[in-house]
Amino acid sequence: MTRHEVRVGKVSAIDYERGMIQVVYHDKDDEVTRYIPLLSHEYMMPPVGALVAVAHLTNGSEAGVVFWRPWSDKNVPPEGYEGLYRKDFDLEPWKCYIRYDANIPESLYHTEGDDYVEIVGKQETLVKKDRKDTTEGNNEEHVTGNRTVTIQGNAGVTVKGKLTLKVGSCTVTIDGGTVTVDAASKLAMTAPNITIDGNTVNITGVSGDCVISGVSLVHHVHTCPAAGAPTSPPLG
Ligand SMILES: [Fe+2]
Repeated sequence: MTRHEVRVGKVSAIDYERGMIQVVYHDKDDEVTRYIPLLSHEYMMPPVGALVAVAHLTNGSEAGVVFWRPWSDKNVPPEGYEGLYRKDFDLEPWKCYIRYDANIPESLYHTEGDDYVEIVGKQETLVKKDRKDTTEGNNEEHVTGNRTVTIQGNAGVTVKGKLTLKVGSCTVTIDGGTVTVDAASKLAMTAPNITIDGNTVNITGVSGDCVISGVSLVHHVHTCPAAGAPTSPPLG
């Protein structure tokens, strides 16, 4: 073997912990190299039997660097056309990959498994067009600090089930056709016009009053012109 030679062989053994493989050259009397390293810019070990390109150093086949797998009849790209960038993270294509189509342009990250993102610092995301989030399972969000939502346009929340809003010791519940407001200390409504309209209306208070047009429900009096005569309207 001449020095600084590039050869193509097959993976015969793998040292996963050290990122090294042994390569067998079937065109060279099945010569097997010692363990030689893959390039360290990423970690992804080729399977046994995979074709790999190896650059051998001055020591002949005993030392070298593996340049991963060339495309071949047994290792064809899962897809390919002008303008496509693609990186598969799984040895089986389509299970976990990123792809970018420069023709649209459009990028996609796909994984068949779970996905976690851990960010020690802060994160900002800027979307200059529409954004859509779809969760087919449950969705939980935990915020330890404050949360502010500013909406310049309209906002809508549609709940098919029950909505419960809890703030301190107060709870607002909307469930089916019933709205329940449960305040621990005070419920105040202030508006120029307030309408309460129902088939059955119950107002119960231990103390308090209802004053309309200066007439107190609790303290108003009537005058009576004579015994047995109708009384006057309520007088404040
Ligand atoms: Fe009265």
